[in-house]
Amino acid sequence: MYAQMVKSEGKTDRAEMSPEERAFQDRIDANEKIEPKDWMPDGYRKTLIRQIGQHAHSEIVGQLPEGNWITRAPTLERKQILLAKVQDEAGHGLYLYCAAETLGVSRDELFEKLHSGAMKYSSIFNYPTLTWADMGAVGWLVDGAAIMNQVPLQRTSYGPYARAMVRICKEESFHQRQGYAVMMRMAFGTPEQKEMAQDALNRFWYPSLMMFGPSDKDSVHSAQSMAWRIKMNTNDELRQKFVDETVPQAEYLGLTVPDETLKWNEERGHYDFAEPDWEEFFEVLKGNGPCNDERLAARRKAWDDGEWFREGLSAYADKAAARRAASDLAAE
Ligand code: 3HC
Repeated sequence: MYAQMVKSEGKTDRAEMSPEERAFQDRIDANEKIEPKDWMPDGYRKTLIRQIGQHAHSEIVGQLPEGNWITRAPTLERKQILLAKVQDEAGHGLYLYCAAETLGVSRDELFEKLHSGAMKYSSIFNYPTLTWADMGAVGWLVDGAAIMNQVPLQRTSYGPYARAMVRICKEESFHQRQGYAVMMRMAFGTPEQKEMAQDALNRFWYPSLMMFGPSDKDSVHSAQSMAWRIKMNTNDELRQKFVDETVPQAEYLGLTVPDETLKWNEERGHYDFAEPDWEEFFEVLKGNGPCNDERLAARRKAWDDGEWFREGLSAYADKAAARRAASDLAAE
């Protein structure tokens, strides 16, 4: 298994690794955490920057579809909850950008790559949020899928990433519950509200399944990332786990998962389910989803609008440094 995984990066077995690579892999296999100043192979560093950067971008782009509903929340309480949740996502972005910076990449570089389209963010955020019930579906399904993927990442091999995930997962589970609470309110409400809840489930089911990435046979990074314990599970394993946990939750709500093939498989001990439309997934990744242009335009505008503020902060930091230097000189 291990030799096979390493093969995906061009190494056939341990004998082909340099002594540093072998020692590094031994530390990974012994479940040791890798810290920023430790030696690491270039591929490990690059893979982490790609994954953590994409993850950070997903957090801040993910603020947009929900931010869209803050002013239209049906009650003051719901508005407060949504506001807090959207603010949490900014915090998650911050922890993750900080974790990426420990690998030697600057935050400005990561933003430049997001804005130019060179770096991805999660496909899910290229779908629109059309009704208030979507706030329920996003919390329940999207944050639910995020938790499924991120709880194992608390044990990932890179220390700063693993530690960031601990707090993120705690907050994500609150997000998931508030989403489910909105769904309960809608599904147990008037027939019109129940219909809105069903419609939200219909639209978010398959995009949520896509969040786990392509099927294992098309996942180019999984084998090496798992050998390095950057990823702890394959995409299909997590997708199956998500379906198994979510279907009973939909049943409790009295809603129907939009998949006629969905069926409990006694022998496997799992649900059989239909795969998402992978052609649609790859189109969204190429930038052709329903909201890709809108999302990137919003992020670029935020960057441009914030220029005066970044300049102000830098000028303040320069002045403070000059003041400190002057007072150090005076004290000598
Ligand atoms: N959206 C966008 N791109 C995706 C994707 C998705 N849902 N799933 C896979 N991809 C991309 C990969 O980035 C890769 O492209 P690249 O080579 O250009 O980077 C390509 O598709 C092939 O996929 P692989 O399976 O080989 O890629 P990975 O091994 O990186 O697996 C992943 C993809 C499972 C998403 C993994 O990167 C991962 O676990 N990332 C950390 C978690 C994360 O990023 N979550 C974002 C979810 S949203 C969120 O957390 C916000 C919260 O508020 C809800």
